[in-house]
Amino acid sequence: MAAEFAPLLVAWQRSHGRSGLPWQNTRDPYRVWLSEIMLQQTQVATVLGYYARFLDRFPDVAALAAASEDEVLGLWSGLGYYSRARNLHRCAQDVVARFGGRFPARAQELVTLPGIGRSTAAAIAAFCFGERVAILDGNVKRVLSRVLAFDEDLSRSANEKALWEAAQLLLPPEGDAEAMASYTQGQMDLGATVCLPRQPQCLICPVQGLCRARLAGQPERFPVSERRLRRSALSLWLLLARRGDGAVWLHKRPARGIWAGLHSVPVFESPDALEAALRPALRPSALHRPAFLHVLTHKDLHLHPVAVAVPTGEARPPATEGEGRWVPVQEWPGLGLPAPVRRLLEEDGPG
Ligand code: ADE
Repeated sequence: MAAEFAPLLVAWQRSHGRSGLPWQNTRDPYRVWLSEIMLQQTQVATVLGYYARFLDRFPDVAALAAASEDEVLGLWSGLGYYSRARNLHRCAQDVVARFGGRFPARAQELVTLPGIGRSTAAAIAAFCFGERVAILDGNVKRVLSRVLAFDEDLSRSANEKALWEAAQLLLPPEGDAEAMASYTQGQMDLGATVCLPRQPQCLICPVQGLCRARLAGQPERFPVSERRLRRSALSLWLLLARRGDGAVWLHKRPARGIWAGLHSVPVFESPDALEAALRPALRPSALHRPAFLHVLTHKDLHLHPVAVAVPTGEARPPATEGEGRWVPVQEWPGLGLPAPVRRLLEEDGPG
């Protein structure tokens, strides 16, 4: 079966897989890398616009390396998972500093760059350089654990390592760079469109005849992972201070923790803390808005906006602990803002 899997997948990718996406008809590692990072946690339809804007502003890795982190975060704004954007910027700087502005060709070297994990390194090396190396992202873990009926607990690193080794054994034969690109894309496409978590579409799957999980009758049982995602909840009160001229009070969040490095309205852990910090003259204008839920990977955020009207021309901060500045209405839309903060400011009108 190991010998049949790759040719079936390659043929399927070429006739039924996704094609014609802007990052698929290039072997420029900069473009492929950028798309892989964006696609890690984001749907293709969303990535398309961001990808075009990034390439427009940063046509090559040197341009991205030379930008400020703020500008990169600003362009990334809305894609979420901002550590990706910070690593993207650091990676570009590393490629310039350590590799003279050219991405290295081997997965082994690519994986030493910020934000490039083992699977992403392999994908770039396979797409751009035809390297014979396995990928294993979340979707591909599902595909391969089903094909092989691999039923060990993947939350244990020894088992994950075993699946990596199995993945290496399924690769197309040596010396066919074109096959490596189609094979790599084929696994991703199969995982995204056919081998779905809850309702695998086995009837249209190119490898239905050799999939051991299907033959056993229970493809949804794989992959096996005993680790539970431990979710937590956090309530935060957001001080939405807006001046008559539309300027809003923002500060840059610390480099660690929630919304790291982004620009945000001030955040408090209780309504009392917010009230206490607010300048007394502004307290009568404070308006509690309906709370809403914002879901992060490991946390449910319950956000409670408190709007405060500040007279035009006021230069002082709206609250003690007054880090930050009044950001004019022409400027804040271009900053890197957490998605819920952007939404609040937009809903609140232009000023
Ligand atoms: N997810 C990560 N990389 C991808 C790719 N190249 N195509 C589609 N989805 C992906």
